[in-house]
Amino acid sequence: MSREDEMRELTRRAYAHYCAGTTDQAPSTMAIEIDAYLDPARYQRELDRIFRRLPLALALGIELPNAGDYRAMKVLDVPVLIVRGKDGVARAFLNACRHRGARLCAPGSGHARVFTCPYHAWAYNERGELLSRYAAETFGDVDHAALGLTPLACAERAGLIYVMLTPDLALDVDAWLGEFAPELATLKLDEWTIFEQRELPGPGWKVALDGYLEAYHHNSLHGKTVGKMTVGNLLVLDTFGPHQRLTFGRKTLGELQHQAEADWDAGKHIRLIHNCFPNLSVSGILGDHCLVSQIFPGPTPDTTLTRQTVLVAQPPLTDEARAASQLFSDMVLQAVRDEDYVVGATIQEGLQSGANREFLFGRNEPAVQNYHRTVARLMAGDAR
Ligand code: FES
Ligand SMILES: [Fe+2]
Repeated sequence: MSREDEMRELTRRAYAHYCAGTTDQAPSTMAIEIDAYLDPARYQRELDRIFRRLPLALALGIELPNAGDYRAMKVLDVPVLIVRGKDGVARAFLNACRHRGARLCAPGSGHARVFTCPYHAWAYNERGELLSRYAAETFGDVDHAALGLTPLACAERAGLIYVMLTPDLALDVDAWLGEFAPELATLKLDEWTIFEQRELPGPGWKVALDGYLEAYHHNSLHGKTVGKMTVGNLLVLDTFGPHQRLTFGRKTLGELQHQAEADWDAGKHIRLIHNCFPNLSVSGILGDHCLVSQIFPGPTPDTTLTRQTVLVAQPPLTDEARAASQLFSDMVLQAVRDEDYVVGATIQEGLQSGANREFLFGRNEPAVQNYHRTVARLMAGDAR
């Protein structure tokens, strides 16, 4: 099926729900015990089993367009350095010097021909190879080949740079993404332009992710922001192994009743959200704007840091285009920081209060159900 046909089919499914007041549903409601959100030991096991052993999309390829571009960040407690090589290949390393472990690059993005340690000035190239050591003749002989930066498995797919946080763990990103890779590729993430990036503190990773996976709350919580555009409680769901594509309906779906199907501008009336397990959400809210959210677990079960990247289809060249992009950026900031994560903070309080022994997920929240099932399956030891 061509992409256009597929968008038409998704629009057809969304429109049918719109007309009938229905949504895709799970076979039943689901309950999970709140220990899944609270238990610190369980949380640590989840970080080890999920976040340290699965490929994580740590950067967009367009964040590092040129050779020598890098991004340094701490993910969980792992210092990561991603660098684009002269051969165009993105590589990841532990951001720690092989002499005595000092951090090579401060967190953030930049460009470097050589990465020089601030402590004693050992220098590495963009392939992580140890190039030179300050006063090497006084230091004594060492085997340079054995003292390159410690590599982390890394692969770029569909405009995203995937990294394994555990050294020596191989990464089979194609097996992990499966059919989701061509699906993600339709977003053409390597053709967008970054408009703004920011980091938002938020509630625990499950509380935060739950909110990215349903439209049930869109009218009630987001009535003044993203809910103005989307139809609340309307979801068309497709799954790709652990990954999910959510299709929301836009309020313009109502216009279709006056149009022959052949005349539909199919992409105009729906909004796709791609959720790459465990922590990436790519949300094309308006046709020429896109929001990429990476949700990173914090030091405790009730904290996360979300990296929001606002993408624009074209660099805004006029004041009008800039204003439109700023409006979008401000709206998604407000929706997430002031609505989702404010409620999320109250959920953390609710969890602590003992009000609930379990949390309930409705039949109208199938993507959230799938998400928790995938977590449970992985924790039970099934790698897929
Ligand atoms: S710790 Fe980096 S050169 Fe000494
Ligand atoms: Fe939300």
